[in-house]
Amino acid sequence: MKRVAIFISGGGSNMVSLVDSMTGDHPARPVLVLANSADAGGLVKAAERNIATAVVDHRPFNGDREAFQAALQAELVKAAPDILCLAGFMRVLTASFVQKWQGRMLNIHPSLLPKYRGLHTHARALEAGDALHGCTVHEVTPELDDGPILGQATVPVRPGDTPDTLAARVLVQEHRLYPAVLHRFATGKREMIRLQG
Ligand code: GRF
Repeated sequence: MKRVAIFISGGGSNMVSLVDSMTGDHPARPVLVLANSADAGGLVKAAERNIATAVVDHRPFNGDREAFQAALQAELVKAAPDILCLAGFMRVLTASFVQKWQGRMLNIHPSLLPKYRGLHTHARALEAGDALHGCTVHEVTPELDDGPILGQATVPVRPGDTPDTLAARVLVQEHRLYPAVLHRFATGKREMIRLQG
């Protein structure tokens, strides 16, 4: 049975879809939900599901990423996960941390990578006039939003879409894609899967 830690920054809807999928004969179980802010709404949802939680607030570190990451690592050593899932975690992790977890750390990104690394992916897809958009689960490497792709889900861009309506349509697919990829990853499967929304 694989042990899974999940990092969040906000509401944690992806975390909830991962946690709720890890039941029955699933090859993994959640052991920690960590947030970089005590205000992250996902912490309450994790506690309601009896998952251990932790907060490592980045602000007191005043931009000292290595010190912030050392505090993250200390929580991970305590929880001893096999897999680390970034789920709406909005802090950029540096190479020194990523290399410790390389091959065992996943991230979900709301675009069809390699298109639109970084922020504001839905607005950029609309500006570009894309017909298709979506989300990607990838292994995390030191390069932001760049690692090997494990899964993608596509959605149509509809006339009149705004960044918010597009984000809502993509989020539904995120909640399907991430659990599907995690289940495979926990049994060593790394071939890319594609879902259509
Ligand atoms: C998701 O769209 C995710 O792809 C992005 O941030 C959003 C977080 O949503 N990185 P939630 O906190 O999982 O609800």
